[in-house]
This record gives sequence, C-alpha cells and structure tokens, in this order.
Amino acid sequence: MKTKLILSLGISAAFTTAALAELELGDAAKLPAAAKTAGVTYDKQIKPIFEKSCVKCHSGEKPKGKYSMESLAAILKGGKEGKGVVAGNSAKSPLVHMTADLVKDMEMPPTDKRDKYPALTKDQIGLVRAWIDQGAK
Ligand code: HEC
Repeated sequence: MKTKLILSLGISAAFTTAALAELELGDAAKLPAAAKTAGVTYDKQIKPIFEKSCVKCHSGEKPKGKYSMESLAAILKGGKEGKGVVAGNSAKSPLVHMTADLVKDMEMPPTDKRDKYPALTKDQIGLVRAWIDQGAK
C-alpha cells in the first residue's frame, strides 16, 4: 500500500515537471520589439489578427489546449497550462513567445498548419506586445 502511494506520487511529479518544461519561455531578447503605437485595444487591432490565425482552433466545445480565444475575457483566463497573457508584461506572456516561435513544439499557429492559419508577422507580434504591455484592454 505504502509503496503504491509513493510510486503514484513519483509518477505525477514527473508529469508535472514535463508539462511545465514544455511551456518554458524563450529568451525575451529574441522577441520582436513592442510597437510604439499608443492606445492599442483588443477590439480595434488585436481581434482581427487572432480571428485570422488562432480562433478557428481555439473556440467551440473543445478548444485546443483548453484555451478559448473567443472573447477578451476567455483570452485573459488562459488554458490548460495556465495564463497565455500576463497583462502588463508581454515579455512574460507565453502566448507572445509561442507566436514568435520561441517555445519548442508549441509554436502558434502550429508550423504545419500555416498554409491555413498564417504566422503572425513581426509587426503583428509587436502590436500584440504593445497591447499586453498597455494592460490588455
Ligand atoms: C491549427 C490549430 C491551431 C491554431 C490555428 C492555433 N493553435 Fe494554439 N494550440 C493548438 C493546439 C493543438 C494546442 C495544444 C498544444 C499542446 O498542448 O501540446 C494549442 C495551444 C495553445 C496555447 C497554450 C494553451 C494552454 O494553456 O495549454 C496557447 C497560448 C495558444 N495555443 C495560442 C495560440 C495563438 C495565439 C494562436 C494564433 C496566433 C494559435 N494558438 C493558433 C492549435 C492551434
């Protein structure tokens, strides 16, 4: 009984470590710079970018990664690995690192799906960064 418990604790600890390692952020210095644009809002500039490249997979009953991107509230809430957006800090936001291809095996949109869902350009990533740095309103 005791051995079994220790064994299962060991296994779940190993899984937790693997999941966190997967979401390890890249080197923030490699991110495209934040845009200098003032007053960036989700409705004005960000929603159209996400609708084109992200929302098809991140919506509906079973959004990929349990991460719905259907509304600003959902985007801020996060997915199975936690928050994608850290409001006020784009350099620490996993979503930004993923769109900049700095998270191995978690590039967003997935690299093999970019014929249908275009990768974000450096300018678009810069706008997303500015939006997050300004509080993700
Ligand atoms: C073709 C489908 C597809 C598209 C398009 C797509 N994703 Fe994903 N996304 C996935 C899948 C699949 C996962 C889960 C990957 C995993 O956990 O291994 C995921 C996971 C994520 C996660 C992690 C969620 C969590 O908590 O685990 C974030 C953040 C994310 N995507 C952001 C984006 C953004 C931003 C875009 C658009 C720029 C985007 N995705 C476009 C399929 C997609």
